[in-house]
Amino acid sequence: MIRYVVARTEEHWAAYNDDQHDRQPRPLCEELVALAGHGEGRPALDIGCGAGVETSTLLRAGWRVHAIDSAPGTPERVWRTVGDRDGLTIEVNDLSTLGELPAVDLVYAGYSLPYLAPRDFPRIWAMIRKSLRPGAWLAVNLFGERDSWASNPSETFLTEAAARSLFDGLHIVRFVEEDAPGESYSGLKHWHVFDVIARLQP
Ligand SMILES: C[S@@+](CC[C@H](N)C(=O)[O-])C[C@H]1O[C@@H](n2cnc3c(N)ncnc32)[C@H](O)[C@@H]1O
Repeated sequence: MIRYVVARTEEHWAAYNDDQHDRQPRPLCEELVALAGHGEGRPALDIGCGAGVETSTLLRAGWRVHAIDSAPGTPERVWRTVGDRDGLTIEVNDLSTLGELPAVDLVYAGYSLPYLAPRDFPRIWAMIRKSLRPGAWLAVNLFGERDSWASNPSETFLTEAAARSLFDGLHIVRFVEEDAPGESYSGLKHWHVFDVIARLQP
């Protein structure tokens, strides 16, 4: 198996996100929106929002979205995707520097949390859990230990048991494991990913 250790800098993410405007929304976000229903102006977080493709999906579904990403140029990128729309706030910030997140009814973190350092991940996960109001929905992609990038010590890779334990106290609605080769922005790799949707009991 090929092993990679890649330095994913803010410039790397800016270039990656510049390429994302025209893609379809990720199925996990579409499923989340179908399950959570119309937002009716309720607050949501898009954590590691990238180019804002899923931010746009959430806004169209009636959620007020606070979109966070550390990549330079994020506001311009997200506005380009979203257009002129009410209900959007954008924060350019490194998650590892945040003390707390606003209380929300939905959190979407698409392919962003695995890029946190293992030393930061538990605190940021606790912050995300704390932001969930009763009845809130949470959808995330997590990376598993058999991922091609798992030897990178600055990113977070989990066993299935560790991934599942993150949702203790939540109702897991979907837990799907991908464990197969596939394309990535940096070429062919082995993807080991857990796609999870969970809900805090109302
Ligand atoms: C693979 S991209 C995913 C972007 C988008 N959610 C998507 O699905 O296309 C990972 C995103 O996480 C952001 N990110 C990585 N580490 C971060 C951190 N510590 N704080 C905030 N954002 C971070 C990157 O800037 C990038 O936009």
